[in-house]
Amino acid sequence: MEGDLPKHVAIIMDGNGRWAQTRHFGRTLGHHEGAKRVDEIVSECADLGIRYLTLYAFSTENWNRPATEIKVLMGLLVQHLSALDKKLVKNHIRLLSKGQVDRLPGFARNELQRVVDLTNYSDPKMSLTLCLSYGGRQEIVDAVKALAQKVQDGKLAPDAITESMITEHLYQPDVPDPDLLIRTGGEYRVSNFLLWEIAYTELYVTPTLWPDFTLPELHKALDTYQHRERRYGKTSEQVVSTPSAP
Ligand code: IPE
Ligand code: IPE
Ligand code: MG
Repeated sequence: MEGDLPKHVAIIMDGNGRWAQTRHFGRTLGHHEGAKRVDEIVSECADLGIRYLTLYAFSTENWNRPATEIKVLMGLLVQHLSALDKKLVKNHIRLLSKGQVDRLPGFARNELQRVVDLTNYSDPKMSLTLCLSYGGRQEIVDAVKALAQKVQDGKLAPDAITESMITEHLYQPDVPDPDLLIRTGGEYRVSNFLLWEIAYTELYVTPTLWPDFTLPELHKALDTYQHRERRYGKTSEQVVSTPSAP
């Protein structure tokens, strides 16, 4: 039996460097080719009626890469955002960012903010979240700091802290947890992505490198998801009789 499409898809877009290196090109070319796939996947997800798409573009750990590669990635981000804005407006897609964006160079931060402001729709067709300078542990630390401040101010008792309060203090509290997490590039790890949010997300790892992740690859991932049984700790029999999240 085929289930519903995921409402929220998150993607770890990995493998740009290897894609370029196997062709004896510099890693930069892999990032350029990868940026093209972003465009295609964004349009297709919106057309399919997926409501939320979250893309891991740059992690807190990626700051440890060579300065030259970071420079290329930041330049590419700006170049890409300047071209993407028309497509987002045309398709009524809202852009959100997630991460410590104040660590980005000013020119990248400004361009990001421009497109976020430009697409600030109250009824978007799809919300596209770019994770930039993002770390899942840092996101949890920042949520804990905000709650600790409330405790210190006497507005919150430690005993009253709940899971939903942590969720409410994440960077984008209105975006629901992902239903499907795709990782390209074949690594079986989450690399500090959405640690809190993926508690019950379905995982899909493909050896396909991100620049090769074309639309048929996306459809394959979605089809796999539609054949999964999400049990949330229950038995299969329980889920079949009441097929909904807790
Ligand atoms: C993903 O591709 C892009 C970023 C992490 C910014 P990589 O650059 O990590 O490519 P590989 O994993 O080295 O092939
Ligand atoms: C994960 O890829 C981060 C992004 C895709 C932005 P990495 O290439 O940084 O992950 P590791 O280092 O292989 O875990
Ligand atoms: Mg990588």
